[in-house]
Amino acid sequence: MKIFKDPKKIQQHISNLKKRGKTVAFVPTMGALHEGHAALLRKARTAGDILVLSIFVNPLQFGPAEDFSRYPRPLKNDLAVAKKEKVDMVFTPAAADLYAADHSTHVAEDDLSRGLCGAVRPGHFRVVTTVVAKLFNIVLPDSAFFGQKDYQQYKVIERMSRDLRFPVRLVMVPTAREKDGLAMSSRNTYLSTAERETAPAIYQALCAAKKDIEEGAALNRAGSRIRAALRKSGIRAIDYAAVLSAADLKAASQTDKKLVVAVAVRLGKTRLIDNILVKRSGKNI
Ligand code: PAF
Repeated sequence: MKIFKDPKKIQQHISNLKKRGKTVAFVPTMGALHEGHAALLRKARTAGDILVLSIFVNPLQFGPAEDFSRYPRPLKNDLAVAKKEKVDMVFTPAAADLYAADHSTHVAEDDLSRGLCGAVRPGHFRVVTTVVAKLFNIVLPDSAFFGQKDYQQYKVIERMSRDLRFPVRLVMVPTAREKDGLAMSSRNTYLSTAERETAPAIYQALCAAKKDIEEGAALNRAGSRIRAALRKSGIRAIDYAAVLSAADLKAASQTDKKLVVAVAVRLGKTRLIDNILVKRSGKNI
Protein backbone atom coordinates (compact mmCIF):
# COMPACT_ATOMS: atom_id res chain seq x y z
CA MET A 1 0.00 0.00 0.00
CA LYS A 2 1.47 3.32 -1.09
CA ILE A 3 0.81 6.53 0.84
CA PHE A 4 0.87 9.87 -1.01
CA LYS A 5 0.68 13.39 0.35
CA ASP A 6 1.59 15.26 -2.80
CA PRO A 7 -1.33 15.65 -5.29
CA LYS A 8 1.05 15.88 -8.26
CA LYS A 9 2.81 12.63 -7.36
CA ILE A 10 -0.34 10.55 -6.91
CA GLN A 11 -1.92 12.07 -10.02
CA GLN A 12 1.17 11.21 -12.07
CA HIS A 13 1.33 7.70 -10.64
CA ILE A 14 -2.36 7.01 -11.36
CA SER A 15 -2.15 8.60 -14.78
CA ASN A 16 0.72 6.22 -15.70
CA LEU A 17 -1.28 3.21 -14.49
CA LYS A 18 -4.34 4.36 -16.47
CA LYS A 19 -2.21 4.62 -19.61
CA ARG A 20 -1.53 0.92 -19.07
CA GLY A 21 -5.28 0.24 -19.04
CA LYS A 22 -5.84 0.04 -15.26
CA THR A 23 -9.16 1.21 -13.82
CA VAL A 24 -9.42 3.21 -10.60
CA ALA A 25 -12.06 2.83 -7.87
CA PHE A 26 -12.08 5.68 -5.36
CA VAL A 27 -13.41 6.12 -1.82
CA PRO A 28 -13.09 9.71 -0.57
CA THR A 29 -13.31 10.11 3.22
CA MET A 30 -12.47 12.40 6.09
CA GLY A 31 -10.87 9.50 7.96
CA ALA A 32 -11.88 8.09 11.36
CA LEU A 33 -12.82 5.01 9.37
CA HIS A 34 -15.56 2.76 10.71
CA GLU A 35 -17.45 -0.25 9.38
CA GLY A 36 -19.42 2.00 7.01
CA HIS A 37 -16.17 3.09 5.32
CA ALA A 38 -14.95 -0.52 5.28
CA ALA A 39 -18.15 -1.48 3.43
CA LEU A 40 -17.43 1.27 0.84
CA LEU A 41 -13.88 -0.02 0.44
CA ARG A 42 -15.02 -3.62 0.04
CA LYS A 43 -17.54 -2.66 -2.63
CA ALA A 44 -14.99 -0.45 -4.40
CA ARG A 45 -12.33 -3.19 -4.23
CA THR A 46 -14.42 -5.30 -6.61
CA ALA A 47 -14.97 -2.40 -9.04
CA GLY A 48 -11.49 -1.41 -10.20
CA ASP A 49 -7.93 -2.64 -10.64
CA ILE A 50 -6.62 0.03 -8.29
CA LEU A 51 -8.35 1.02 -5.07
CA VAL A 52 -7.62 4.57 -3.87
CA LEU A 53 -8.69 5.92 -0.48
CA SER A 54 -8.41 9.62 0.37
CA ILE A 55 -8.28 10.82 3.95
CA PHE A 56 -8.68 14.57 4.20
CA VAL A 57 -10.45 16.44 6.97
CA ASN A 58 -11.57 19.30 4.78
CA PRO A 59 -11.24 22.43 6.96
CA LEU A 60 -13.74 24.34 4.79
CA GLN A 61 -16.43 21.78 5.62
CA PHE A 62 -16.58 22.99 9.23
CA GLY A 63 -18.33 26.20 10.23
CA PRO A 64 -16.72 28.46 12.88
CA ALA A 65 -18.89 26.90 15.59
CA GLU A 66 -18.37 23.36 14.31
CA ASP A 67 -16.03 20.56 15.31
CA PHE A 68 -12.94 20.86 13.04
CA SER A 69 -10.39 20.85 15.84
CA ARG A 70 -11.97 17.98 17.76
CA TYR A 71 -12.82 15.89 14.66
CA PRO A 72 -11.15 12.48 15.23
CA ARG A 73 -7.93 11.81 13.23
CA PRO A 74 -6.82 8.28 14.14
CA LEU A 75 -4.46 7.94 11.14
CA LYS A 76 -2.68 4.82 12.39
CA ASN A 77 -5.95 2.96 12.79
CA ASP A 78 -7.23 4.28 9.44
CA LEU A 79 -4.14 2.95 7.67
CA ALA A 80 -4.66 -0.44 9.34
CA VAL A 81 -8.28 -0.51 8.07
CA ALA A 82 -7.06 0.50 4.60
CA LYS A 83 -4.50 -2.29 4.59
CA LYS A 84 -7.08 -4.85 5.74
CA GLU A 85 -9.43 -3.80 2.92
CA LYS A 86 -6.61 -4.11 0.37
CA VAL A 87 -6.35 -0.44 -0.55
CA ASP A 88 -3.56 0.19 -3.08
CA MET A 89 -3.04 3.90 -2.48
CA VAL A 90 -3.93 6.25 0.34
CA PHE A 91 -3.99 9.97 -0.43
CA THR A 92 -3.54 12.12 2.69
CA PRO A 93 -2.90 15.67 1.51
CA ALA A 94 -2.31 18.61 3.83
CA ALA A 95 -4.80 21.50 3.52
CA ALA A 96 -2.11 23.62 1.80
CA ASP A 97 -1.74 20.91 -0.88
CA LEU A 98 -5.36 21.33 -1.92
CA TYR A 99 -5.90 25.02 -1.20
CA ALA A 100 -3.34 27.57 -2.31
CA ALA A 101 -3.23 30.55 0.06
CA ASP A 102 -4.97 32.66 -2.60
CA HIS A 103 -7.36 29.99 -3.90
CA SER A 104 -10.48 31.61 -5.30
CA THR A 105 -12.26 28.95 -7.35
CA HIS A 106 -15.26 26.99 -6.18
CA VAL A 107 -17.65 24.49 -7.65
CA ALA A 108 -21.26 25.15 -6.65
CA GLU A 109 -24.34 23.07 -7.32
CA ASP A 110 -27.34 25.37 -7.05
CA ASP A 111 -30.46 23.24 -6.87
CA LEU A 112 -30.20 20.05 -4.82
CA SER A 113 -27.88 21.84 -2.38
CA ARG A 114 -30.50 24.30 -1.23
CA GLY A 115 -32.73 22.33 1.13
CA LEU A 116 -32.18 20.00 4.10
CA CYS A 117 -28.54 20.28 5.30
CA GLY A 118 -27.91 23.08 2.79
CA ALA A 119 -30.61 25.22 4.41
CA VAL A 120 -29.28 24.60 7.93
CA ARG A 121 -25.59 24.90 6.93
CA PRO A 122 -25.46 27.52 4.14
CA GLY A 123 -22.48 27.04 1.83
CA HIS A 124 -21.83 23.51 3.09
CA PHE A 125 -22.31 21.72 -0.23
CA ARG A 126 -20.27 24.28 -2.14
CA VAL A 127 -17.20 23.26 -0.17
CA VAL A 128 -18.05 19.57 -0.55
CA THR A 129 -18.43 19.81 -4.34
CA THR A 130 -15.27 21.91 -4.54
CA VAL A 131 -13.15 19.39 -2.66
CA VAL A 132 -14.68 16.37 -4.42
CA ALA A 133 -14.05 18.01 -7.83
CA LYS A 134 -10.41 18.59 -6.80
CA LEU A 135 -10.11 14.97 -5.62
CA PHE A 136 -11.65 13.66 -8.84
CA ASN A 137 -9.17 15.73 -10.86
CA ILE A 138 -6.25 14.35 -8.85
CA VAL A 139 -7.31 10.70 -8.47
CA LEU A 140 -8.89 10.34 -11.95
CA PRO A 141 -11.39 7.67 -10.77
CA ASP A 142 -13.47 5.50 -13.06
CA SER A 143 -15.84 4.85 -10.16
CA ALA A 144 -16.36 6.57 -6.80
CA PHE A 145 -18.20 5.27 -3.74
CA PHE A 146 -20.30 7.21 -1.22
CA GLY A 147 -22.53 6.21 1.70
CA GLN A 148 -26.31 6.53 1.62
CA LYS A 149 -26.25 8.15 5.07
CA ASP A 150 -25.26 11.37 3.30
CA TYR A 151 -28.00 10.99 0.71
CA GLN A 152 -28.20 14.70 -0.16
CA GLN A 153 -24.41 14.84 -0.53
CA TYR A 154 -24.60 11.87 -2.91
CA LYS A 155 -27.29 13.52 -5.04
CA VAL A 156 -25.37 16.82 -5.14
CA ILE A 157 -22.14 15.08 -6.20
CA GLU A 158 -24.08 13.04 -8.77
CA ARG A 159 -25.51 16.27 -10.26
CA MET A 160 -22.11 17.99 -10.21
CA SER A 161 -20.47 15.02 -11.93
CA ARG A 162 -23.17 14.94 -14.58
CA ASP A 163 -23.15 18.70 -15.17
CA LEU A 164 -19.35 18.98 -15.32
CA ARG A 165 -19.03 15.70 -17.23
CA PHE A 166 -16.64 14.00 -14.87
CA PRO A 167 -16.07 10.59 -16.49
CA VAL A 168 -16.81 8.75 -13.26
CA ARG A 169 -19.48 6.22 -12.29
CA LEU A 170 -20.91 7.03 -8.87
CA VAL A 171 -22.04 4.26 -6.55
CA MET A 172 -24.16 4.75 -3.43
CA VAL A 173 -23.63 2.10 -0.76
CA PRO A 174 -26.35 1.37 1.87
CA THR A 175 -25.87 2.88 5.32
CA ALA A 176 -23.98 0.70 7.79
CA ARG A 177 -25.80 0.52 11.12
CA GLU A 178 -25.03 -0.43 14.69
CA LYS A 179 -27.05 -3.39 16.04
CA ASP A 180 -29.65 -0.99 17.46
CA GLY A 181 -30.10 0.77 14.11
CA LEU A 182 -28.01 3.91 14.71
CA ALA A 183 -26.32 4.91 11.45
CA MET A 184 -22.54 4.57 11.76
CA SER A 185 -20.79 7.92 11.79
CA SER A 186 -17.40 9.18 12.90
CA ARG A 187 -19.32 11.67 15.04
CA ASN A 188 -21.04 8.96 17.11
CA THR A 189 -17.92 8.90 19.31
CA TYR A 190 -18.91 12.36 20.61
CA LEU A 191 -22.17 11.06 22.13
CA SER A 192 -22.44 10.78 25.91
CA THR A 193 -23.80 7.52 27.31
CA ALA A 194 -27.27 9.03 27.67
CA GLU A 195 -27.19 10.53 24.16
CA ARG A 196 -26.02 7.23 22.70
CA GLU A 197 -28.97 5.50 24.38
CA THR A 198 -31.37 8.02 22.84
CA ALA A 199 -29.83 8.04 19.34
CA PRO A 200 -31.45 4.81 17.96
CA ALA A 201 -34.78 6.67 18.15
CA ILE A 202 -33.77 8.40 14.91
CA TYR A 203 -33.80 5.19 12.88
CA GLN A 204 -36.90 3.97 14.71
CA ALA A 205 -38.73 7.15 13.68
CA LEU A 206 -37.56 6.69 10.08
CA CYS A 207 -38.74 3.06 10.00
CA ALA A 208 -42.11 4.04 11.48
CA ALA A 209 -42.49 6.78 8.83
CA LYS A 210 -41.63 4.31 6.09
CA LYS A 211 -44.25 1.86 7.37
CA ASP A 212 -46.87 4.63 7.55
CA ILE A 213 -46.12 5.73 3.97
CA GLU A 214 -46.26 2.17 2.71
CA GLU A 215 -49.65 1.81 4.40
CA GLY A 216 -50.88 4.89 2.57
CA ALA A 217 -50.54 7.64 5.22
CA ALA A 218 -50.68 11.25 3.95
CA LEU A 219 -47.20 12.37 2.88
CA ASN A 220 -47.71 15.95 4.00
CA ARG A 221 -48.15 14.85 7.61
CA ALA A 222 -45.16 12.49 7.73
CA GLY A 223 -42.70 15.22 8.79
CA SER A 224 -44.77 16.24 11.80
CA ARG A 225 -45.30 12.60 12.81
CA ILE A 226 -41.53 12.02 12.75
CA ARG A 227 -40.94 15.15 14.82
CA ALA A 228 -43.52 13.99 17.37
CA ALA A 229 -41.87 10.53 17.59
CA LEU A 230 -38.42 12.09 18.05
CA ARG A 231 -39.66 14.48 20.73
CA LYS A 232 -41.32 11.61 22.57
CA SER A 233 -37.90 9.90 22.67
CA GLY A 234 -36.31 13.02 24.15
CA ILE A 235 -34.85 14.50 20.94
CA ARG A 236 -35.95 18.12 20.85
CA ALA A 237 -33.36 19.83 18.60
CA ILE A 238 -34.61 18.77 15.18
CA ASP A 239 -33.06 20.54 12.18
CA TYR A 240 -35.42 18.85 9.75
CA ALA A 241 -37.65 15.83 9.24
CA ALA A 242 -38.84 15.63 5.67
CA VAL A 243 -40.26 13.31 3.02
CA LEU A 244 -38.99 14.21 -0.43
CA SER A 245 -38.77 12.82 -3.91
CA ALA A 246 -35.63 10.63 -3.90
CA ALA A 247 -34.87 11.71 -7.46
CA ASP A 248 -34.72 15.50 -7.06
CA LEU A 249 -35.21 16.20 -3.34
CA LYS A 250 -38.35 18.26 -4.06
CA ALA A 251 -41.47 17.97 -1.87
CA ALA A 252 -42.85 14.47 -2.27
CA SER A 253 -45.95 13.98 -4.36
CA GLN A 254 -48.25 10.98 -4.73
CA THR A 255 -46.78 10.28 -8.19
CA ASP A 256 -43.16 9.90 -6.96
CA LYS A 257 -42.05 6.29 -7.21
CA LYS A 258 -39.12 6.61 -4.79
CA LEU A 259 -39.11 8.77 -1.69
CA VAL A 260 -36.41 9.67 0.79
CA VAL A 261 -37.35 10.25 4.40
CA ALA A 262 -34.54 12.37 5.87
CA VAL A 263 -33.84 13.58 9.38
CA ALA A 264 -31.19 15.77 11.03
CA VAL A 265 -31.11 16.29 14.77
CA ARG A 266 -28.75 17.55 17.40
CA LEU A 267 -28.05 15.49 20.48
CA GLY A 268 -26.13 17.76 22.81
CA LYS A 269 -23.37 19.21 20.64
CA THR A 270 -23.47 16.38 18.10
CA ARG A 271 -25.37 16.71 14.84
CA LEU A 272 -26.66 13.40 13.45
CA ILE A 273 -28.30 12.77 10.09
CA ASP A 274 -30.02 9.69 8.70
CA ASN A 275 -32.47 8.72 6.00
CA ILE A 276 -34.43 5.82 4.60
CA LEU A 277 -35.58 5.17 1.04
CA VAL A 278 -39.14 4.10 0.36
CA LYS A 279 -40.53 2.65 -2.84
CA ARG A 280 -44.16 3.54 -3.48
CA SER A 281 -44.84 -0.09 -4.33
CA GLY A 282 -44.31 -0.69 -0.62
CA LYS A 283 -40.96 -2.45 -0.79
CA ASN A 284 -37.81 -1.32 0.96
CA ILE A 285 -35.00 -0.28 -1.37
O1 PAF B 1 -18.56 12.34 3.15
C1 PAF B 1 -17.43 12.75 3.45
O2 PAF B 1 -16.67 12.11 4.20
C2 PAF B 1 -16.95 14.07 2.89
O3 PAF B 1 -18.00 14.97 2.77
C3 PAF B 1 -16.21 13.95 1.56
C4 PAF B 1 -17.10 13.40 0.47
C5 PAF B 1 -15.01 13.04 1.73
C6 PAF B 1 -15.71 15.32 1.12
O4 PAF B 1 -14.86 15.90 2.07
